[in-house]
Amino acid sequence: MHHSPTSLAIFSATVYGAAEFVAEELTRALSASAYSVAFNPRPTLQNVTNTQADIALFCVSTTGQGQLPRIMARIADELEATAANLETLNYRVIALGDKSYGEVDFCGGGRRLDALLDTLGATRLAAPLLIDTEATNNPEEIAVPEILNWLQALREAAETPAQ
Ligand SMILES: Cc1cc2nc3c(=O)[nH]c(=O)nc-3n(C[C@H](O)[C@H](O)[C@H](O)COP(=O)(O)O)c2cc1C
Repeated sequence: MHHSPTSLAIFSATVYGAAEFVAEELTRALSASAYSVAFNPRPTLQNVTNTQADIALFCVSTTGQGQLPRIMARIADELEATAANLETLNYRVIALGDKSYGEVDFCGGGRRLDALLDTLGATRLAAPLLIDTEATNNPEEIAVPEILNWLQALREAAETPAQ
């Protein structure tokens, strides 16, 4: 990133609401910290490919056996089928899952999306944030401070002149 990030797009995909709730709480906290945030809980392929935000956050849960919620599974399938060029997209995935589903499937949906965006040329700004909702009833209490601190560090890095 060549300038300090100020605008974010948050795309969520949920089955039972937890990932959407985390995305809402992130939207609230980031807006309160003077970021410009566009929250979209019902994203389409075009919303993702056309985003102009400095950073896109994808907040998704996992369903089935390591699968994305339907709305994001469809977007991922379309991105893959069309081999979309995502070179202008800077992103991080926030993945909710449950370790009791096993190592292989844990946060499998979010990890699939993360790998796919990277493959299509998008810039992965950080490893996905994997949240085990078996271990916490309040995943937003993990996601909000982590993302705020991480964005603050990105801004400080962007504002420090290169040596
Ligand atoms: C039917 C079902 C299948 C699930 N499969 C997985 C899975 O394969 N991997 C995983 O990490 N979590 C799995 N989970 C756990 C959910 O991802 C986790 O509970 C998450 O917090 C749900 O978020 P949501 O309310 O946004 O859908 C599954 C949950 C259900 C109910």
